[in-house]
Amino acid sequence: MYLAAMHTINTICVCGAGTMGSGIAQVAAQAGYHTIQFDVNEAMLEKSRQAIEKSLQIMVDKQRLTPEQKDTTLDRLVFTADIRQCRADLVIEAIIEKKDAKISLFNQLAEVNGAGTIYASNTSSISLTDIAAGTGNASNVAGMHFFNPAQLMKLVEVVKAHQTGETVIETISAVARQMQKTPVVCKDAPGFIVNRVARHYYLEAMRLIELNLATVENVDEIMEATGFKMGPFKLMDLIGMDINFGVSNIVWEALGKPERLTPSIVQQQKVEAGNLGRKTGKGFYEY
Ligand SMILES: NC(=O)c1ccc[n+]([C@@H]2O[C@H](COP(=O)([O-])OP(=O)(O)OC[C@H]3O[C@@H](n4cnc5c(N)ncnc54)[C@H](O)[C@@H]3O)[C@@H](O)[C@H]2O)c1
Repeated sequence: MYLAAMHTINTICVCGAGTMGSGIAQVAAQAGYHTIQFDVNEAMLEKSRQAIEKSLQIMVDKQRLTPEQKDTTLDRLVFTADIRQCRADLVIEAIIEKKDAKISLFNQLAEVNGAGTIYASNTSSISLTDIAAGTGNASNVAGMHFFNPAQLMKLVEVVKAHQTGETVIETISAVARQMQKTPVVCKDAPGFIVNRVARHYYLEAMRLIELNLATVENVDEIMEATGFKMGPFKLMDLIGMDINFGVSNIVWEALGKPERLTPSIVQQQKVEAGNLGRKTGKGFYEY
């Protein structure tokens, strides 16, 4: 039997230095990869650099990392707003949840990279098959869906687009394992697995408060008492209201707008008011 060789991954470019990109860049560097963190916003790059330093220092304080390991991890990281510096074997994209933005970024990156570069998207809900179709090298496009906070959460949904090559799936699964994660290969279906199942956790919770049947605090307290690590409202604040609302809309539309998955007006208003959760200091709670 002929087995195609896996791609060699030495350098990873993480695009987007927000909630997810910052955590993914940290785990990439900790796993030993030369890591380029790219964002169009310099302030986000600086925020990410500080967050990674702080997170590594906490690990040193807890004796989970030596000071030398912290320094070598930081030495492997480069922060840049210049796309010409984004030459990598693997791109992991964690920018805004908009299909056209992701396709456009992959096509810009293709101009500075060779044909072997793999393009993985951290999208929570956009069809990888659609993203791949918008690029010039569709067989090298796949999903690599990390969970929040990326430094801690073990699961990575590895999403196979219709066009994705088998060696690409094997390679990014191996990268996830090198990052001490658990890769699970999923089909390219709306919301993949976790976000499809979890939609109801958020939507039904918001329906309860829309109908005045419970308060935000009630719902969170009860769900946490049943064993969930975080109640739905705290979780939405952690994820970011814009991201969570965007995912709800994409999954709802992709499934033909079923009534049971209708996005919530409460969440829509929070997005419109700019109350996006922890990242803006206010969401369902104040921070
Ligand atoms: N927040 C979560 O809990 C979560 C979990 C899993 C997956 N995701 C997915 O990860 C992606 C990022 O989510 P996030 O919460 O980190 O978003 P975020 O809003 O915290 O950060 C997005 C970052 O992308 C940057 N950006 C925007 N356009 C860019 C471009 N063209 N090139 C480079 N940088 C650009 C922004 O400046 C910002 O720093 C989304 O696709 C989202 O669906 C989010």
